[in-house]
Amino acid sequence: MRCPCRLMPAPVLLLLLAALSTDGRAVSRLGGGGPGRDPPPARPPVVLIPGDLGNQLEAKLDKPTVVHYICYKKTDDYFTLWLNLELLVPVAIDCWIDNMRLIYNWTTRSTEAPPGVDVRVPGFGQTYPLEYLDPSKRPVGIYFFSIVQSLVDWGYTRNADIRGAPYDWRKAPNENKAYFVALRKMIEEMAETYGGPVVLIAHSMGNMYTLYFLNQQPQEWKDRYIKAFVSLGAPWGGVAKTLRVVASGDNNRIPVISPLKIRYQQRTAVSTSWLFPYNNTWRDDEVLVFAPTANYTLRDYKRFFTDVGFEDGWAMRQDTEPLVSALEPPGVAVHCLYGSGVPTPEAFNYSTFPDGEPVVINGDGDGTVNLRSTMQCRRWAGRQQQPVRMVELPGNEHVAMLLNTSTVAYIKSVLFSP
Ligand SMILES: *[C@@H]1O[C@H](CO)[C@@H](O)[C@H](O)[C@H]1NC(C)=O
Ligand SMILES: *[C@@H]1O[C@H](CO)[C@@H](O)[C@H](O)[C@H]1NC(C)=O
Ligand SMILES: *[C@@H]1O[C@H](CO)[C@@H](O)[C@H](O)[C@H]1NC(C)=O
Ligand SMILES: *[C@@H]1O[C@H](CO)[C@@H](O)[C@H](O)[C@H]1NC(C)=O
Ligand SMILES: *[C@@H]1O[C@H](CO)[C@@H](O)[C@H](O)[C@H]1NC(C)=O
Repeated sequence: MRCPCRLMPAPVLLLLLAALSTDGRAVSRLGGGGPGRDPPPARPPVVLIPGDLGNQLEAKLDKPTVVHYICYKKTDDYFTLWLNLELLVPVAIDCWIDNMRLIYNWTTRSTEAPPGVDVRVPGFGQTYPLEYLDPSKRPVGIYFFSIVQSLVDWGYTRNADIRGAPYDWRKAPNENKAYFVALRKMIEEMAETYGGPVVLIAHSMGNMYTLYFLNQQPQEWKDRYIKAFVSLGAPWGGVAKTLRVVASGDNNRIPVISPLKIRYQQRTAVSTSWLFPYNNTWRDDEVLVFAPTANYTLRDYKRFFTDVGFEDGWAMRQDTEPLVSALEPPGVAVHCLYGSGVPTPEAFNYSTFPDGEPVVINGDGDGTVNLRSTMQCRRWAGRQQQPVRMVELPGNEHVAMLLNTSTVAYIKSVLFSP
């Protein structure tokens, strides 16, 4: 059976970002190495931090049971779990969901893979896991490729002075502690090897990861090792769409995937609850979900999770809400690129809740991230010494912004400015 490739739009929650419009607010001077340091190199090393669904994952199986006789129970080696379109077709998707899901443990307040499922993130430090999500490099899975290839055209070398920092995006930072240790070490090594501070380029949820990371580092470390943070399509204050994902699932308009089926996997990903709208951006009287028996605002998440039959979600939210909700300034030069002018879900109206398909009430944004959320980096201007640049990309969709030549041109201006 052929995969539904053509039908598959850019992945659902990928919060991508791109750049542009150097309309007079051109980057003049980026922060970077502090006074008295050597001049930064002509070509600062670059680390890419992907978003939700934004890098490959692999699995190896030795399971006690499977959900369907066609599912593999045991594999000799690791295989691609994401993105592998062959696994997303009817029936096979049941096996996939049973391998992708996480099980929440209320004692450890963390998630575990199902018995006999070993999931790993391939290629830390390399770019391939995030250039294309699909190792066979089908166009549908294109992600950071355009940006990486452009850098290579400007003289960069893959896996040397441009590297990827993939992670298990099903989880929030509280369950990815080793990742941040590895990221810090890689940044230090790159800065030392290439003679100057690093530029971080993050997309979508990768920005939340990056902010969390930077908030943990002493200012001295950031002054020494980080030249700039290019933020593409960041969901700083959360994303309204996540409530639909948890309530009724979101097949990303791929007709062969049943939203209610995929919902099971989507709910168990801690990062979904982590990205629920925050009160740093939404008012507490704004209804996010209208349903026949209740309306839900951000004060009603506990009841929401109970009413949709997923109480683990409330625990996940409580575990993760404090990670970046204060939106503390990152303490490095920030370039905040964000799409606008694309209809973006802001609220959902259910006549059958939670198992029906809602009527979507749209607002402004990039199609995934609400404009008011992505613009939150504005709050850092004047609250940190380093500059904060806002770069609106009108008409840019969340993932498509990564492919837009204006985004790439803006990145170039950041990399090659003094
Ligand atoms: C949760 O974790 C605890 C501590 O590691 C363990 O003893 C318990 O069996 C786990 N619960 C489940 C349901 O796996
Ligand atoms: C926002 O939510 C957090 C966590 O629920 C709470 O502690 C805080 O007081 C709220 N802030 C405002 C301004 O309502
Ligand atoms: C939800 O809000 C709408 C619009 O404000 C209101 O008409 C409706 O009665 C509310 N529903 C419930 C169950 O409170
Ligand atoms: C939600 O849908 C119901 C039924 O179609 C409609 O009566 C109601 O006005 C809608 N509410 C909102 C807030 O759009
Ligand atoms: C690229 O971005 C620019 C500036 O936001 C926009 O005007 C243009 O339409 C975009 N191009 C594509 C192909 O999306």
